[in-house]
Amino acid sequence: RQPVDSPLYPLLNAAAEHYRQALKSHPQRKYAVDYLKGRGLTGEIARDFGIGFAPPGWDNLLKQLGADALQQKVMIDAGLLIENAENGRRYDRFRDRIMFPIRDSRGRVIAFGGRVLGDDKPKYLNSPETPVFHKGQELYGLYEARKHNRDLDEIMVVEGYMDVIALAQQGLRNAVATLGTATSEEHLKRLFRIVPSVLFCFDGDAAGRNAAWRALESTLSSLQDGRRARFLFLPEGEDPDTLVRAEGTDAFRARINQHAQPLADYFFQQLCEEADPRSLEGKAHLVTLAAPLIDKIPGNNLRALMRQRLSEITGLSGEALSQVASAPRSHA
Ligand code: CTP
Ligand code: MN
Ligand code: MN
Ligand code: MN
Ligand code: MN
Repeated sequence: RQPVDSPLYPLLNAAAEHYRQALKSHPQRKYAVDYLKGRGLTGEIARDFGIGFAPPGWDNLLKQLGADALQQKVMIDAGLLIENAENGRRYDRFRDRIMFPIRDSRGRVIAFGGRVLGDDKPKYLNSPETPVFHKGQELYGLYEARKHNRDLDEIMVVEGYMDVIALAQQGLRNAVATLGTATSEEHLKRLFRIVPSVLFCFDGDAAGRNAAWRALESTLSSLQDGRRARFLFLPEGEDPDTLVRAEGTDAFRARINQHAQPLADYFFQQLCEEADPRSLEGKAHLVTLAAPLIDKIPGNNLRALMRQRLSEITGLSGEALSQVASAPRSHA
């Protein structure tokens, strides 16, 4: 998936070091440190995640690491410098931002996310796709979570950098983020190689709820018997960062225990909102929606049980259902 060796790795590592150093000693570091403190982070957690600061200015990193033209070329390939197409001028991509290094599973820095300290747009700027960074495949925080705990039993999937870090700050060190992309089947395959249980906890807004349904769809083809996925829906307007800071670790844990919904429950609840099973037409529609999705599940027992539930809801016999759901099944 990723090149074993690439000149981009040492360069990205040096850049991460540069940003970390700036957070420690740059003359303008204070407002960056205050920003992080204002979001409830300690220096220790900032160190654990390698958080840094890209100071204001067009050429801080360029001057520091771009000694010659060849080196600058590599910096462009790594997404650290941008070259103006018209005049050929080169400048730092990340300026005046809090820097979050994104690591691969071996801990190598492969990209960055940079957050503005105020309300400017875009709120987050991420590295572009590069030979070592394929955004749709990475999970922010996975390296850090595994490093902290070698035998995780559940991984929590959240939306953002600050969700991962705020949860870690509160002692919940098993969260990873998809970095604003949809949770893919690739993501799930990776996660289920590490843990038997995945907990999705997206923002309490329309985008978060849509992301949850899409995550469910991506999860189905990984559901061998013995694996499970759960969904925790947050109150409107909250995300894991705001909520865990507001209510604390114990309450957040209790919320998970009491309210995390098993995939099968969420599945039927959601589909019954789309197709009202109180009418025959609704039941028919429900079968049309549910059967092909259930058929993607590779776990024989779970698949049979979900069909049975569909059968109970609609009154269609298992035999009638299996005639409906005859699409080829994925065994990935
Ligand atoms: N994101 C992005 N670019 C943006 C906005 C969001 O890449 N312009 C990604 C980031 O990884 C972000 C995630 O999507 O962390 C979730 O977005 P959002 O909920 O809007 O941001 P938060 O993580 O809640 O940001 P913050 O708490 O720092 O305001
Ligand atoms: Mn690519
Ligand atoms: Mn969001
Ligand atoms: Mn947030
Ligand atoms: Mn959010």
